[in-house]
Amino acid sequence: MNVLAYAKLNLTLDILRRREDGYHDLQMVMESISLADTLTIANGEGEVSTNLRYLPTDRRNLAQMAAAAFREATGLGGAVNIAIEKAIPVCAGLAGGSADAAAVLRAMNQLTGAGLSLEALADIGQRVGSDVPYCVLGGTALAEGRGERLTLLPPLPHCHVVVCKPPFSISTPWLFSQVKVHKIVRRPDTAGVMEALEKGDLAGVARRMYNVFEDVLEPRHMATIAAIKAVLINCGALGASMSGSGPSVFGLFASEQDAKRAYRRLLEQYQSVFLCQTVDGLV
Ligand code: C5P
Repeated sequence: MNVLAYAKLNLTLDILRRREDGYHDLQMVMESISLADTLTIANGEGEVSTNLRYLPTDRRNLAQMAAAAFREATGLGGAVNIAIEKAIPVCAGLAGGSADAAAVLRAMNQLTGAGLSLEALADIGQRVGSDVPYCVLGGTALAEGRGERLTLLPPLPHCHVVVCKPPFSISTPWLFSQVKVHKIVRRPDTAGVMEALEKGDLAGVARRMYNVFEDVLEPRHMATIAAIKAVLINCGALGASMSGSGPSVFGLFASEQDAKRAYRRLLEQYQSVFLCQTVDGLV
């Protein structure tokens, strides 16, 4: 069985509080884009393979963890072989690993005939990682709590998206450790984004996007993020933001021509640049 695992963007990312368990309560508006890994899943010996040699394929691999979590939760399904063709850059703030895990859960649900609801699959997914429940559903959604409390939102009006991943990685736990919640000055206008979604107002969404992690980056990384945003906006993006714990930056475009111009400009400077579109969710 072949399944696509779509990358996610954070249209907004806000941190509300630090919890007793070390995690943070978040408020994020999420969106799926057509940039996707392809997974081939078949009955087998439990092997995971990928086209990127440096990725772990053992129990640290989120797809492998998802298959184990599914078996544990349902008692169904023997070992499966999972071949992952990565297109989503790794450690990029695009939930690539979580998307793969979610795709495995959906595929095993079908292969075994378990017939679990997407909600039940999302519930299994939260044991694998904070972004997995959202990736099970996809589309436009508000994610709260650790990321597991999901509310579907009216879909973001279809648009063109340019994503650029600069050539460095940021550790998610490190980034969370840098945030002093009471010191956050600039936050996304989450309520405004949700109102704009209700109205089908793409520009209204785009100009209210923000990610609170952008203010705690190391200065040299902050400068790179700002430079990529400037290219996107100068080429006609309606708004631009960093996704997740970065370092990927994206811009939303109403015009395909403008998006192509931004894509070409960024390709002159960066290797990991993608021209894609929004995709609707599964529900
Ligand atoms: O759940 P996941 O493994 O994706 O999270 C990675 C790390 O990010 C956690 O170990 C934690 O340090 C941090 N995190 C957090 N609050 C969240 C999600 C993740 O502090 N809501």
